[in-house]
Amino acid sequence: MGNAPQIKKTVTLTDNETGKTYEFPIVDGSEGPRVIDIRKLYAETGMFTYDPGFTSTASCESGLTYIDGDQGILLHRGYSIKDLAEKSDFLEVCHLLLNGELPNPAQKKEFNHLVTMHTMVHEQMQFFFRGFRRDSHPMAVMVGCVGALSAFYHDSLNIDDPKQREIAAFRLIAKVPTIAAMVYKYSIGQPFMYPRNDLSYAENFLYMTFGVPSEPYKINPILARAMDRIFILHADHEQNASTSTVRLAGSSRANPFACIASGIASLWGPAHGGANEAVLAMLNQIGDKSRIPEFIARSKDKNDSFRLMGFGHRVYKNYDPRAQIMRDTCYEVLKELNIKDPLLELAMELEKIALSDPYFIEKKLYPNVDFYSGIILKAMGFPTNMFTVLFAVARTVGWISQWNEMIQESSQKIGRPRQLYTGPVNREFIPMDKRK
Ligand code: CMC
Repeated sequence: MGNAPQIKKTVTLTDNETGKTYEFPIVDGSEGPRVIDIRKLYAETGMFTYDPGFTSTASCESGLTYIDGDQGILLHRGYSIKDLAEKSDFLEVCHLLLNGELPNPAQKKEFNHLVTMHTMVHEQMQFFFRGFRRDSHPMAVMVGCVGALSAFYHDSLNIDDPKQREIAAFRLIAKVPTIAAMVYKYSIGQPFMYPRNDLSYAENFLYMTFGVPSEPYKINPILARAMDRIFILHADHEQNASTSTVRLAGSSRANPFACIASGIASLWGPAHGGANEAVLAMLNQIGDKSRIPEFIARSKDKNDSFRLMGFGHRVYKNYDPRAQIMRDTCYEVLKELNIKDPLLELAMELEKIALSDPYFIEKKLYPNVDFYSGIILKAMGFPTNMFTVLFAVARTVGWISQWNEMIQESSQKIGRPRQLYTGPVNREFIPMDKRK
């Protein structure tokens, strides 16, 4: 494997039927569980591994993001998410994810300049929007429009050219917020706002979303900082469903814009990026503190499909470190806007009750990042169907950084999982006139 140290440790597998034994190397990463390198498993044993949901599978080698779910640790290129959220800004984190290092002042200036140079989208793209119903879900429009970037930017589609890959990355980081704001404007029938390159990334996004051409838009620094922090907290998260989708799409050598569109589609689901939207729907459904016990009971009932949205995580079996920062940001925003949100009070009560419930304690179900982000975004004026779009804006850098890392791997191959076939075999074909 590329960067992983090769150690002479192995694991032995015994086939109890034939008595044969096989040895497979164990490989150490710089942190986290070791992996058994089973690339030769099929060739040597004629067997596949079976791991639906990839709960025991490392699908790739990566140097971007490390999560220790038991300890509640999240690191990007070795830096803690807390430090990044409190001490840097989103574009610095983008530089870190893409290039491996935090930028020095000159690099930061250059990086910010390159992003802002790409914030406008091709003027013809606005005609695309007219083909969509105004009441389309914004994520449906996002999937279409981000995929359509590949129809406009032919000069950054050659994935073997590092310069073109770099331009594609800048274009995506810069244009996805512009498209996201356009999606919102289209849905409410307001004119699209051209980006302003004198503003920061988060400020510009708020301006394009909430500004109107007829009036000056006053930036609220607390809201801009909260927006920036939300972007940082969602920038990357290791090999989650949407990132794995981007990598799998990219493994066939599809162009980066198409790959990121596939990531957006995957993110849309309520078990992934759609969860913050689902949290608000759930809080509205619960409606009052007195009904919390009823809903907690429903979430524990195996015959009821209801789950407490914003609780639990495939990897974190401890407090999601992003949730803590999001919680503080939530209070800051509500205080600034002088909002006493009954939904927040309901959320706090729900959190308290769930955290002391033996079911949630035993299963290590803690609030995740989405539990608070929905409340903040609602307070800032975003409609619920835009929440996942904001997640997509932030995650674009993670997706493109992971895609870039994969493309540069010397051993990169098309992703092609196999299966345990359990369907019928060797059936005789019955002509139509003989079928009952
Ligand atoms: N409410 C009630 N029970 C739950 C919940 C929940 N939110 N989450 C998990 N469980 C139970 C589940 O029923 C199972 O019980 P049992 O062992 O008795 O069968 C056990 O906990 C383990 O759950 P799982 O479904 O096997 O865990 P998973 O890793 O497959 O699912 C999850 C992770 C995030 C999909 C799930 O916890 C969930 O659906 N949570 C609510 C949706 C949500 O908040 N998603 C946002 C995730 S964070 C944002 C992101 O990174 O995309």
